[in-house]
Order: sequence, then structure tokens, then C-alpha cells
Amino acid sequence: MTQHSSAPATDTAPAIRTDATGEPTGWWREAVIYQVYPRSFADGNGDGMGDLPGIRARLPYLADLGVDAVWLSPFYASPQADAGYDVADYRAIDPMFGDLHDADALIRDAHELGLRVIVDVVPNHSSDRHEWFQRALREGPGSPLRDRYHFRPGRGRNGEEPPNDWESIFGGPAWTRTKNPDGTPGEWYLHLFAPEQPDFNWENEAVRDEFRSVLRFWLDMGVDGFRIDVAHGLVKAPGLPDMGRTEQLKLLGNQALPFFDQDGVHEIYRSWRRILDEYPGERIGVAEAWTPSPERTALYLRPDELHQAFNFHYLDTGWNAEALRAVIDESLDSMRPVGAPTTWVLSNHDVVRHRTRLGGGLGRARAASLLMLALPGSAYVYQGEELGLPEVTDLPDEVRQDPSFFRDNGQDGLRDGCRVPIPWTSTGPSYGFGSGGSWLPQPEEWAKLSVEEQTGDPTSTLEMYRSALAVRREHPALGAGDAVEWLDDFPAGVLAFRRRAADGSGRDFVCTVNTTGTPVELPTVPGRVLLASGEYDGGALPADTTVWWEA
Ligand code: NOJ
Repeated sequence: MTQHSSAPATDTAPAIRTDATGEPTGWWREAVIYQVYPRSFADGNGDGMGDLPGIRARLPYLADLGVDAVWLSPFYASPQADAGYDVADYRAIDPMFGDLHDADALIRDAHELGLRVIVDVVPNHSSDRHEWFQRALREGPGSPLRDRYHFRPGRGRNGEEPPNDWESIFGGPAWTRTKNPDGTPGEWYLHLFAPEQPDFNWENEAVRDEFRSVLRFWLDMGVDGFRIDVAHGLVKAPGLPDMGRTEQLKLLGNQALPFFDQDGVHEIYRSWRRILDEYPGERIGVAEAWTPSPERTALYLRPDELHQAFNFHYLDTGWNAEALRAVIDESLDSMRPVGAPTTWVLSNHDVVRHRTRLGGGLGRARAASLLMLALPGSAYVYQGEELGLPEVTDLPDEVRQDPSFFRDNGQDGLRDGCRVPIPWTSTGPSYGFGSGGSWLPQPEEWAKLSVEEQTGDPTSTLEMYRSALAVRREHPALGAGDAVEWLDDFPAGVLAFRRRAADGSGRDFVCTVNTTGTPVELPTVPGRVLLASGEYDGGALPADTTVWWEA
């Protein structure tokens, strides 16, 4: 028998389960959440830049893929100094993406298709073009508006040195000096990211009020939740003490620092949770929280705080059976005490796509994807990973837009390669992304990775994802949960675990993953094959291959 990814017959596009009966469904405990990066998903007006009408037109594709929710990276009014993570107006859509009518139509259509919608909220910093920051600059030192950000006099004789030694995550000092209204050198302001992204001062009540109001604005628009950008950064250690180290910080780092993961952040999320709970339909908060340990991350997910956090410890783990087993156990163990679901993620708009990052090409990427989708909890899929897209590693410098690329000693500088617009068709000026070009050039090889090319081909990565999500939705042992039972009689380099059927049907599930470069004989046949990440004939488990079994 040669097994690829034959799609089991299940219903697609279920209607959203509501809480009409008053019973919570806990939909988010097992949701597969698909990240749309609006610039690069679909271009509705042919200007080379993705937009909301483009996304709206492609929602049926996402419903058909079988995801539960869509997370949209920022589409707010923004000068785009950091691809929209520099927000100038939290209640407006950037004209390059559309307008509020488009957002409304998108949310409505998504709901009709059974898809929930999660939007990004960016509370750590605004754009330097935000009205508050502009007024604070104009009004000069002493203005109460300056207290909404972190303005400080400089150190040194004439205030010519930054107020402390903090570094920007994008490289260089985390402080920029302002000019006074009369043109003389003035105070400095804090920006943990680019200079165009001044940090808010969350000790200021107006900031807290403003964000509670922003949350309500979008909840009233009908969104089902928020992905909270830099959720660990809002509160800074009192007095802004030196960090006492000089190495370049990492965007996705986990060091203990005086501006990350301070205990004061939790009070903010408790107040946000109260707002989320006022709305019907189980609206959720998802933390992008980089903390020193999974236990620290779990604190954001206590029952009166947020619902989920990205599991970056998992994303950071290489293709190694022992390391994967350790991080899976650690992730499940750390969430259990707070009763939150573990999440799993392999790719997003800030990291090298996992097909390239894991170093084993498409076969390994597919195996990694099936492992992730077999784990208990919620999973995040980044647009294009279902097509098996690799990172684009040869973008010419002149087309790059990532701000960290342009900063002195910028340490990332590689984020454009995972942001290249995705191919929908095998031909056309931007492979169906839009009727015009594409803001970043797409490799020619992407023609054969397009949605059109892969649809209906049972060996394609797209059909593997469709099948996996259908099995996951239907199988009583998959989805929510907090435990895996490791099967220890498998050879080194093979991860094997069982998940018990939750409905008493006895339909258990086994996942076997060969992380090695050679085929491995299985000690026992675990059951009936449900799905395989590569060609599988029922004998030895091929190199870099995951097989799902009903046991
Ligand atoms: C995390 C976002 O994912 C990233 O793209 C952005 O640059 C930083 N936060 C700053 O907002």
C-alpha cells in the first residue's frame, strides 16, 4: 500500500459553534489558527500589495483548508516603518489595505464560512506619527503628553548620552534624542524597536484607558480575539535601570531583562480579560510573550488572564527526537497547572520558514508539520507553509523592507525572505497574488508550488495539510488535551506517542516520527495508517517521515 494523504470524507467549513446555550465550547483549546500576513496574502486591486478585499476573496480557500480561525497581522493606519507594527491610528485601516467597510465585510464573510477572526493589537509602542507622540514632541519637555511615552533627559554633561544602556532589538541604542520646539537638542525617548516605534508608558492611566477602548472598538466590530504584540514588554522595571550587558538582543530571545516580562504586566491582562469576557462567543487573547522559561509564559495564561501564548520554545527546537520530546513534555507540563492549552508553531513572519530552517528540505518540513498537528492543543499555521514554501534567501538588498536590515549592527535583517507574496496560480505576473506585480519578487520555482498546481494532487503538501486538518477535526483522540503517552520501544531518533480517544470509542491515535536520515524498522505496527508525510509502503519508517495511525 502506498499512502500519501488521501482525504478522508468529512464535512468542511463547519459553522461557528456559539455559546447560544450558555455553554462554553473552549473552541480555542484545539483551534488551528492560520496567520495571514496582509501584505503578502492576496492583492485585490492589483497594486502589488496585499489588501483586505484580497483576503476576503480568498476566505473560501481557508475554510476549505479546514482551519478554525484566521489571525491577521496589523492592517492599521501606519507609515509602515515596521510593516504595520508601527501603528498611527488603532481605529483606522491603512488605505493600502482598504477601509473599515472592507474590515467589516471580511469579518462577516469569515463568520459565515465558520472562520473566527483574530486581529493583532500593538500595545507596546505606537508609530512616531501617532497623534499623541507628535503632540508630545511639539509641546516639549514638561508637557503631560510626554508622560504617555518614555521621555528622559540624557546623561553626560550636556545630556548627550542616552538615559540608560538599553539596546534596540533591531540594533543600536533604544533611545533617540529629540529636538526641542526651538531646535535645540532635547530629551531622549525610548524605543525598544525602531526609532519610528516609541514605547508607551503603561504607568500612565490614559494609555491604559486608550487600549481598553481600542479593544472594545474591535470587539464591537466582531473580532474573536487579539494577538498581543510584545505582550511581555509593556511594563518596564521602575527607574529604567541599566541592563548591564552589551550583546545585541534577539527579537525572539528569552533573556531576563529590565524591560521584558515584568510582573506588572499581569494586572493589565487581567483587566483585558474582564473586557473579553463581557462579550459573547468566547473572545480570546493570545500573548506574543518572550520569557525566560515556559513557567514564566504560563503566568500570562492563568484563568483570569489570557487564553494562549505562542510556544516559541517549540519553534526554536531543531529536528532532533530527544530535544523535541523534551520541549513537548516541558510545554505540556508548564501549561497544566494553569489549565491553558499548549500551542505549537513552526513558522511566522519573523523567522526563517521551517522548510528551510530545519535544514532537511520539503520532506522534513512535511514531517515536522504532521508532528505539530498531532500534538494536544492549538496550532498556528503561517500562510504558505501549507504549500511547503521555502524561505527566499536571495532577495536583492534593494527590495528589502525589514527595518532591522537597515540598522547598524541589526541582527535579524532576514525577515523579508518569509514575507514574499504567496503563489495562487502557476502563471501570471505574480502567480495569482494579484493582477499586477508583487512588492517582493517571487522565485520562478514557486509556480509549481502554487495553490492551483497542488490542488487535487494527493502527493502535494497542500493536500497533506487538508487531510491532516480533516483527520484532526474528526478524530476523537486529536485536538484538545494536555498529555501524550510516549512509546518507548521505538529506536533512537524516532518519536512515537499515543493519544487516547476522548470519547470512549477506543479509537486511539499513534504518531511516529523518524527524525533520522535513514529508514527505521518499527518494533510493532502501531495500527492502521491514517496519513503519512511522505511515501509510505507499510514497512520501515522512511527517513524524515511522520506517520499517523489509528491504534
Ligand atoms: C513582534 C512582531 O511579530 C514583529 O514583526 C515586530 O517587528 C515586533 N513585534 C515589533 O512590533
